[in-house]
Amino acid sequence: MSESDYVIDEMIPSADIAARIKELSGEIASEFSGTSKLFVVGLLRGSFIFIADLVRELDLPVEIDFLEASSYGDSMESSREVRILKDLRGQIEGRDVLLVEDIVDTGHTLNHVLNLLQSRSPAKLRTIALLDKPDRREVDICADWIGFKIPDEFVVGYGIDFAQRNRNLPHIGKVRFVKT
Ligand code: PRP
Repeated sequence: MSESDYVIDEMIPSADIAARIKELSGEIASEFSGTSKLFVVGLLRGSFIFIADLVRELDLPVEIDFLEASSYGDSMESSREVRILKDLRGQIEGRDVLLVEDIVDTGHTLNHVLNLLQSRSPAKLRTIALLDKPDRREVDICADWIGFKIPDEFVVGYGIDFAQRNRNLPHIGKVRFVKT
């Protein structure tokens, strides 16, 4: 697919994303109130913008770490095999942990990573995803907090890519394929 084969229509404006992050960060701060330090795990690469905005709204002491998982590569189809490409640097045993995901689609990535983190015995483990596409689910799983439920559309921007492009769009866009 070449660049000229699609256009991007705005789906969720950046102001709406910012407003929703403010709401969600308040709920997360209540859930983890009293924590000595919340261990926030960003799932690379798609969550890098979301986690940056989220932690700046969170009124809690935080430690930031990253884990990289991939199941799509440059493909539009999930391989359903989640590979851990980069593990955490920190230990999460006995810690309060928030896993930050950009989008839950089939659910394989969230399921795999949650199982991995749970096996390391955190004190409390919660998940947040900016976007949720429930119509695409293959694994019965849901994040504890969702920014926006969206229909089964191909989305890009705010960290999410199409063949490694468009991650730097400030809003969430919907890909519309056009005949050339
Ligand atoms: C994308 C996205 C989620 C995952 C969701 O990651 O960032 O992590 O797919 O899909 P699923 O629910 O069907 O498993 P991808 O593998 O494309 O890697 P990336 O974050 O580096 O783009």
